[in-house]
Amino acid sequence: MPPLAGVAQTGALPAGPSLTGPVPKHVAIIMDGNGRWAASRGLPRAAGHKAGAEAVTRCLRAARANGVDYLTLYAFSSENWRREPSEVADLTGLLRFYLRHKVAELHREKVKIRFVGEVGRFGQDLCAEMARAEALTEGNSGLTLLLALSYGGRSDIVHAARALAQAVQCGDLAPDAITEDMLARYLLTAGVPDPDVIVRTSGEHRLSNFLLWQSAYAELVFLETLWPDFDEDCFTRVLNIYGRRERRFGARPA
Ligand code: FPP
Repeated sequence: MPPLAGVAQTGALPAGPSLTGPVPKHVAIIMDGNGRWAASRGLPRAAGHKAGAEAVTRCLRAARANGVDYLTLYAFSSENWRREPSEVADLTGLLRFYLRHKVAELHREKVKIRFVGEVGRFGQDLCAEMARAEALTEGNSGLTLLLALSYGGRSDIVHAARALAQAVQCGDLAPDAITEDMLARYLLTAGVPDPDVIVRTSGEHRLSNFLLWQSAYAELVFLETLWPDFDEDCFTRVLNIYGRRERRFGARPA
């Protein structure tokens, strides 16, 4: 079957270090395929997640090297709580490990860390570690890393709608005065430009409740690569695909 129009397949894409177009300011990634990567090696799912976390480090390095300003990673969706408790514990354990052992390094690299999602669900200890990481790196001038944890795009929009409804109820806001920009200021990503490109690995072609509002004009790139295999070349490939896309934001072609 020929590749779907507009769906980038890894094999047919330009790779290599040379970039062919503008660098996106904000790259967002649905990191998918950890389980299949592990299964294909006869390993437990936890091994896939561990390898996935190592891919995060490579991805971050590539994003910084290429001058990307914002990198958002979908590390745990609000639906992922439905997974086996042991898998949730493995993922939570990885998060704890990275918070304890990697934040200092990220701080030295001037990375600013921000968590988006219902992070309270991870419990007080982890929440406190996340708050510490955000506070420590708040003043950094390098890449902003947004980790989406217990994140759901619909829930993000509902919370923003509730905040606006409350302002209307208090008489501080007229319904007609509500604008798109105003709603965006109540989203968890407030202050962050919308993603220019959203990448999903592992051959799946869905957004899965990721950045639903913010993805309105994002370029979508789907790679066959399983997330634990994602490396600097994959990142360059994404940038090259993005660089060749024509973004019109609804306007007529020139
Ligand atoms: C999807 O693969 C991946 C996840 C649900 C978790 C993503 C988490 C990581 C990459 C680790 C990140 C760690 C930190 C500390 C940020 P899947 O398990 O759904 O894979 P499958 O579809 O092949 O089963």
